[in-house]
Amino acid sequence: MAFSSEIIGWYQQYKRDLPWRHTRDPYVIWLSEVILQQTRVEQGLPYFLRFLSHYPDVIAFANAPEDEILLHWQGLGYYSRARNMHKAAQAVVSAYGGVFPTRYDDLIRLQGIGEYTAAAIASFAANEARAVVDGNVFRVLARYFGIDEPINSSKGKKLFLKLADDLLDRTHPGLYNQAVMEFGAMQCKPKNPDCANCVLRLDCRAFSEERISQLPVKLKG
Ligand code: ADE
Repeated sequence: MAFSSEIIGWYQQYKRDLPWRHTRDPYVIWLSEVILQQTRVEQGLPYFLRFLSHYPDVIAFANAPEDEILLHWQGLGYYSRARNMHKAAQAVVSAYGGVFPTRYDDLIRLQGIGEYTAAAIASFAANEARAVVDGNVFRVLARYFGIDEPINSSKGKKLFLKLADDLLDRTHPGLYNQAVMEFGAMQCKPKNPDCANCVLRLDCRAFSEERISQLPVKLKG
């Protein structure tokens, strides 16, 4: 599929060098993904490094007092994320003997891990074929395919999930997932995307129809 191979080619040339992209340790990937859920990369990066130096593995994380974890979390907001992480780490110790799972179906049962995070960990750590669908992915797909179905309607969600799964590169799901998210974050940005220098420009429906600024559609409320 041209879309997936173009995106992967772009990623290999332009990706940012970020520390969690050098590991397949599901604990480290989990740490990065939960921190980045509501936090920009520049803000989350020092927290990620600090957490990793204090808690190099899930057992250390599980054994830490919750107050200490919350203290290290200070400034990131959404403290339920930190509390859920602590519960999830303890569950990994009790249910999996401290070996962090990599299967989507195991991950999705842990506190604070939703569909996005489970797909990210399973695909990055173990190349399980699960498509990640975050705000970046919604935006890239809505624009490239010119889809004006709202991304937060139930019909829209179903449509985008199905499309994301159809596009997933089954040989390199982890690489493809990283690539499409990075493409959304760096190239197909919410405001002022750099369409003049975009590798997908010629096949991008929104670009050819001058609808970039109108997509994706999101319902208020
Ligand atoms: N935001 C969420 N996950 C990310 C990742 N793996 N790399 C960069 N930004 C992200």
